[in-house]
Amino acid sequence: MKTAMGTTSMQKARRLGRNGPTVPLVALGLWQAGGKMWGGIDREEFRDTIRFAVENGLLLFDTAELYGLGGSEKLLGSLLRELGARDEAFIVTKIAGYRVTVRGAVKAVEASSRRLGRKPDVILYHWPPPYPFTACRAVRLLEAVLDRGLAGWIGVSNFDADQLEEAVHCAKKAEILVDQIHYSMAYRLPENRLIPRARRLGVTIMAWSPLAKGALAGKTLADNRARKMDPVFKRAAQDKELQQALATAASRLGADKASIAIAWLIARDTIPVVGVRRRSHVESIIRALQLEIPPELLKELDKASEKYVTIWGKKYSELRFNRFLPPPIQYFVFNIVLRGI
Ligand SMILES: NC(=O)c1ccc[n+]([C@@H]2O[C@H](COP(=O)([O-])OP(=O)(O)OC[C@H]3O[C@@H](n4cnc5c(N)ncnc54)[C@H](OP(=O)(O)O)[C@@H]3O)[C@@H](O)[C@H]2O)c1
Repeated sequence: MKTAMGTTSMQKARRLGRNGPTVPLVALGLWQAGGKMWGGIDREEFRDTIRFAVENGLLLFDTAELYGLGGSEKLLGSLLRELGARDEAFIVTKIAGYRVTVRGAVKAVEASSRRLGRKPDVILYHWPPPYPFTACRAVRLLEAVLDRGLAGWIGVSNFDADQLEEAVHCAKKAEILVDQIHYSMAYRLPENRLIPRARRLGVTIMAWSPLAKGALAGKTLADNRARKMDPVFKRAAQDKELQQALATAASRLGADKASIAIAWLIARDTIPVVGVRRRSHVESIIRALQLEIPPELLKELDKASEKYVTIWGKKYSELRFNRFLPPPIQYFVFNIVLRGI
């Protein structure tokens, strides 16, 4: 069974799903490494960032066909080749939620593999399929990808509790290992229904936006489109109570705010997918992996972030608007109008 564990002793592992592979406790998010909304990347600096991550056993990477319209996958593939880490890396990528035919899904994964320079380990279905398709359609496509030997494992992203349950029940040939969802100290809505359901179903939660796009690391300036468009970033950046709780925990543990927010998610048995652009971002992840937040500090952090269990609603509905757009319209919006995200 494949494991993506480096040689560093501080690296611990988490099993994906009930019977999946073991992977590092934190994933590196690569939307930033190609996504237009983040305003570009310095290749040399990013190469150094990935080298540093690999050297420290951080070998779990998250990307998607849509990030920079394949640019993120391509960059990851070429850097891993340059660093000689292509085989030991564990790569999660996603097919867009407008893929509703087997042919379309297979072609998309084949294209991802070409860009990555090898087949991905896990394929996620990026958001629930458009009406009238159900979660079972997504599973059918994912299983078709597995049948052709194009990936090792499968999962979903942004599926709510009922969609996740349906997907798990529809999956006959392989386990749905993961639901990758929006979850952080500033966005605790999934605790209402989705996370308890995922636990019952044995599905691992990967948490995207674990730093609320940097707000939980102390950033306050909405200096790119990703931040400008994110109400969670704005709210968390201005939340004095939450920022104070992060600062207190950081100073007591000799850490930084980002490490605390990441460690909080690890303590909740999820895999944070941290967007990284710089070496210092990876340093925070390493610090988080070394942290043990004592129960009384965890309690304080929970209290300061408790309002976010209900502030954003109760039912998980990220990217739900896509579901109302037929596949050709979605394709047009993401590929022609936005030219990638
Ligand atoms: N499945 C989905 O639908 C979905 C949706 C969104 C994201 N994702 C995945 O989740 C990943 C992360 O989520 P996200 O993009 O929303 O961002 P995030 O991880 O919440 O925030 C990342 C940003 O925070 C800043 N940051 C990171 N570490 C820091 C540190 N130690 N100190 C100070 N600032 C720090 C960086 O900003 P600067 O680069 O500006 O310095 C970084 O780009 C993405 O890369 C992607 O792989 C998945």
